[in-house]
Amino acid sequence: MMEILEKVKQVQQAVESFPIDNKEHLEAFRRQFIGQKGAIKGLMGEMKNIAPENRKTFGQEVNKLKQLAEERFKTLQDSLIETKQAEGPAVDLSLPVIPQQQGTVHPLTIVKNQIVQILERMGFNQSDGPEIEDDFHNFTGLNFPENHPAREMQDTFFIEKHPDIVLRTHTSSVQIRQMEAFPPPLRTFSIGRVFRNEAISARAHCIFHQIEGFFIDTNVSFVDLKQTLFHFAKELFGDDTKIRFRPSYFPFTEPSAEMDISCRICKGKGCNICKYTGWVEIGGAGMIDVNVFKNCNIDPEAYTGFAFGMGLERITMLKYQVKDLRLYTENDLRFLRQFRGMM
Ligand code: DAH
Repeated sequence: MMEILEKVKQVQQAVESFPIDNKEHLEAFRRQFIGQKGAIKGLMGEMKNIAPENRKTFGQEVNKLKQLAEERFKTLQDSLIETKQAEGPAVDLSLPVIPQQQGTVHPLTIVKNQIVQILERMGFNQSDGPEIEDDFHNFTGLNFPENHPAREMQDTFFIEKHPDIVLRTHTSSVQIRQMEAFPPPLRTFSIGRVFRNEAISARAHCIFHQIEGFFIDTNVSFVDLKQTLFHFAKELFGDDTKIRFRPSYFPFTEPSAEMDISCRICKGKGCNICKYTGWVEIGGAGMIDVNVFKNCNIDPEAYTGFAFGMGLERITMLKYQVKDLRLYTENDLRFLRQFRGMM
């Protein structure tokens, strides 16, 4: 009997000294003493082992202990609720708001939007074509003869099972699609993704964007081409921008030219961006080849036209002095945040 009363006493001490500071402690207390598997229930289970004459005393002791534990539980529960209320609501409504992290428009999109606006102001409408093309629209229609080395100017991604299907290597394919779909006059441009089988480096990527524009009407001349691109360059790069043409070769234009703009960094004096020439290349252009017209059933006697193609990544590099093409696709916030606020 003494032993079991000693045990009751121990539990009582434990009940009195159990530290309770929070909800978790309170729950632990409940489980340890008051719960179905708790110490007090355990003591009650001992009743059957107690000599009948001692049962009354034992029962009273255990009952006192039970009351004590329940009271302590209740008091602590109340005090926890009170402290919680005294602490006020879980959110401090007087705190200043955390500024919302606002995204930025991607630099390529910023420049693309500017180009769209400039060309639309000049009367070009925007058109589109598929990124997965057939050989005709990407090459043959554009006067790349079959097995002609000119096709190797662009390292092409082919679809293995369909050698006739390619990922377009340039947006010039949209020229063919437009000429097939609509009769002249046509004044349209397209901006989109192109693909070339090239190793990724600071200056090359296997996926990039081109801007393709062309104008077909009666009596369109090289002067119109020059004037259009001159105006375009001034609008995009600033009023003091000069342009120049260098003779070049493209299968789909004759004559063909490569177009340079005066270096914006050194204003033509020579710097490492323009490799000390004062000029940087921004694209190709020319008068649409007679064969291209024929391939699209446009009468080359009645119509002439010019076309131009430029790289969006390159133009953006020149405009914002981006030194490495890979920055465009790495999503480094330190790079992207520099364009905050621009549209
Ligand atoms: N398609 C050419 C390329 O990817 C760029 C180009 C050059 C487009 C001359 C044109 C053009 O429309 O007239 O290199």
